[in-house]
Amino acid sequence: MEKVDVLLGLQWGDEGKGKIVDVLTPQYDLVARFQGGPNAGHTLEFNGEKYILRSIPSGIFQGNKINVIGNGVVLDPVLFQEEAEALAKSGHDLTKRLVISRKAHLILPTHRLLDAANEAAKGGAKIGTTGKGIGPTYTDKISRYGLRAGDIEHDFESKYNAAKERHLRMLASLNYTQDIAELEARWMQAIEFLKTFTFVDSEFLVNKSLKEGKKVLAEGAQGSLLDIDFGSYPFVTSSNTVCAGCCTGLGVAPRNIGDVYGIFKAYCTRVGAGPFPTELLDETGEKLCDLGHEFGSVTGRRRRCGWIDLVALRYTVMLNGVSKLIMMKSDVMDTFPVIKACVAYEIDGKEVKDFPYELNENVKPVYKEFKGWNKTMQDVKTENEFPVEFKEYIKFLESELGVEIAIVSVGPDREQTIMCHH
Ligand code: GDP
Ligand code: IMO
Ligand code: MG
Repeated sequence: MEKVDVLLGLQWGDEGKGKIVDVLTPQYDLVARFQGGPNAGHTLEFNGEKYILRSIPSGIFQGNKINVIGNGVVLDPVLFQEEAEALAKSGHDLTKRLVISRKAHLILPTHRLLDAANEAAKGGAKIGTTGKGIGPTYTDKISRYGLRAGDIEHDFESKYNAAKERHLRMLASLNYTQDIAELEARWMQAIEFLKTFTFVDSEFLVNKSLKEGKKVLAEGAQGSLLDIDFGSYPFVTSSNTVCAGCCTGLGVAPRNIGDVYGIFKAYCTRVGAGPFPTELLDETGEKLCDLGHEFGSVTGRRRRCGWIDLVALRYTVMLNGVSKLIMMKSDVMDTFPVIKACVAYEIDGKEVKDFPYELNENVKPVYKEFKGWNKTMQDVKTENEFPVEFKEYIKFLESELGVEIAIVSVGPDREQTIMCHH
């Protein structure tokens, strides 16, 4: 019996999950998404082409691997159709390689309106969501009002109408009325498109595959600091982004989890509102943003940038049981004379090493400084070529986090990936 390996983000998302899932896919038979939805934007680059995936797993480009949209995912039929058609146009026919869990919940047009209405109602306390209806869809799931992909096969129209009517009453109470006829027509058309895909009970597919000795890679979306339970609440997403989410989002027993790949940037970013202790609001932050092209792949929003936060990373390594670390975007820091890593927080004059209940304005990062490597990392092909300063930086991170860095990424392309054996 094989186990499921999990790859997930350890920061606030956009760590480079898509790129590495694509790189690792040749070692697997199945790649599965287990949570989140089109709030994700996973970028892949190879052969001079760039692709952004939102709901479709990042294993779709590597040979004939089965890609699974698991029960823990929330699916927007309209965005899914756009994504699938764009891929088909570029020569990637998905219909035989992609299956969808019947238990995945559907994002309705009114869920997106509710997302906007909730944000508007919050005023200054806005979360800065991606506006994709994620929160309202998971809310309906938990409060047992949701519509699932499998419902398309069973008495769909009356279930849809009941949900819609309920949502319209909620929108009216928020003074957010809008004619939805056009959105609805487009959505229904996308449902017809969705019907051309294979729906499965993906918990059986995954477990039977493991039993047959097949290898499964689970692809996380967002990052652990956006987890609904452990992230910087309420500035989080609405799903469990930590490893445990893979168990509920795919139907995998905890004992059948294998390696946990924890992925992080050599620095840190966050998009949307919420606390970010190591954020840099100066030229250094600007430089990280410019050199790292830190703009949201879905919303185009500028990502906030700052130094790496080891208090937060120690926390997320612990929560996920990370067995292998992956460091991304090392090349972005090539020209920094000094690189800082936050090793502790100072809160009310006391040094704190454990991630606190609340990241308020009293939380001040304590930094350790490193000399920059001043070398073009994008040209580096093997770990033997790592500059000494770079080696020192990663050795320090490994000792602080207690886990080895197994992969270092030095550029956006599939090829710019270095497997480490030290
Ligand atoms: P994901 O959501 O975790 O899949 O990450 P995103 O795709 O949202 O953001 C990562 C961005 O960094 C994308 O634009 C990638 O093309 C890019 N990227 C990934 N790895 C590297 C790297 O090692 N160096 C550089 N410069 N860019 C990278
Ligand atoms: P990937 O998978 C970065 C953030 C939003 C917002 C908060 C809640 O590409 O790493 P939501 O729409 O989920 O209700 O928004 O979560 N967020 C992300 N930030 N990367 C993502 O996905 C994100 N998905 C959601 O910006 O702060
Ligand atoms: Mg992203």
